[in-house]
Amino acid sequence: MSTAAGIDTTALRADFPILGREVNGRPLVYLDSAATSQKPLAVLDAMDAYYRETNANVHRGVYELAAEATERFEAGRRAVARMVNAPYETTIFTKNASEAINLVAWAWGVRTLKPGDEVLITEMEHHSNIVPWHLVAEITGATVRFVPVTPGGELDMGAFEELLGPRTRMVAVVHMSNVLGTINPVADIARAAHAQGALVLVDGSQSVPHMPVDFAALGCDFLAFTGHKMCGPTGIGVLVGNADVLERMEPFLGGGEMIRDVTIEGATWNDLPWKFEAGTPPIAEAVGLGAAADYLMGVGMANVRAHERDLAAFIIAALDEVEGVTLFGPRDPDLRGGAVSFAMEGYHPHDIAQVVDREGVCIRAGHHCAKPLMRVLGVGATARASAYLYNREEEIDVLVQALGSVRTLMGGPGS
Ligand SMILES: Cc1ncc(COP(=O)(O)O)c(C=O)c1O
Repeated sequence: MSTAAGIDTTALRADFPILGREVNGRPLVYLDSAATSQKPLAVLDAMDAYYRETNANVHRGVYELAAEATERFEAGRRAVARMVNAPYETTIFTKNASEAINLVAWAWGVRTLKPGDEVLITEMEHHSNIVPWHLVAEITGATVRFVPVTPGGELDMGAFEELLGPRTRMVAVVHMSNVLGTINPVADIARAAHAQGALVLVDGSQSVPHMPVDFAALGCDFLAFTGHKMCGPTGIGVLVGNADVLERMEPFLGGGEMIRDVTIEGATWNDLPWKFEAGTPPIAEAVGLGAAADYLMGVGMANVRAHERDLAAFIIAALDEVEGVTLFGPRDPDLRGGAVSFAMEGYHPHDIAQVVDREGVCIRAGHHCAKPLMRVLGVGATARASAYLYNREEEIDVLVQALGSVRTLMGGPGS
């Protein structure tokens, strides 16, 4: 049994059936939750029950079954809104975090930005929070500027203050880096940006699943996150927005559900949040995401954070003992989450990931959709072990043992 702060992993792991399986003849050690998390029975059962018991299209039907489907769908929204302390009306379902950010880039950025305007992002963004702004800049003539990352893996806040200015119209920043694990001071960033009249978008894809996130307390205008990293299904993400800003924005996608009226001349828009939800929404996925939010709130996000803080400290200490390993990102577990990127001298990250897979250990290798950051770090790729609420210290020991066999199996430095 392994218990770290706040979570009894032995009991909790029973909620995740996949964790009981073997891979390559070894017990599965899943250390890739930053890519996607595993799903608890509560989520699997809620989605299964939705299809078995109440499947119908939402919002349109006058019959009982459609009313039940709509109620389960909107209950999913209420749970997600409660989890991040956001109003129900401004909690918008999208396809994933990427679409949530694209919604802002296209519905706000393309219609608002002009030549000379600046969008300020950071060197540690995921491509999802870079490429949409590149596209918008190309169309509008605005400029995308990047806050640098310090050698210790934190945002250079001095440089942020210098780059922020009256031309800045949007500050779009990741809350927790998927590569470095760094937790950024987004509330301070939002205050400073608002003082310059800029809007603020926080990419919460890695923070919402792993720590308490309070939309109201952050003070940002938009919070984007993705269902599949927070124990929910794929195919659904969330954009939470400031009501005034959302009201002023035109829709992103057009189609059914998002209109109040359509005439030959044009259309008027539905109320929030449906104004931004064109077409049949991801209904079963919303039900599943609601179950995921309820599950995480049941565990307690402060407990999840405490558990992962301890695991991050354990991973860092364990990897420090492995010959030739260099860690990226802050070493202080108070400043970071449980995604830990590393290099092993003499070995490509893909080879490392393949060798540890033989021991049943799933870690990620690659650029993690953060190529600008890879260039800053001076590498093409990293290996990354990322922990979640169900991981245990024993699993990190298995990873470390498996890393030992990289040298034995592949030869090379020290063999
Ligand atoms: C920080 C961050 N932002 C955005 C995303 C994009 O999430 P999705 O692919 O679900 O849109 C990811 C996924 O890896 C991420 O880690």
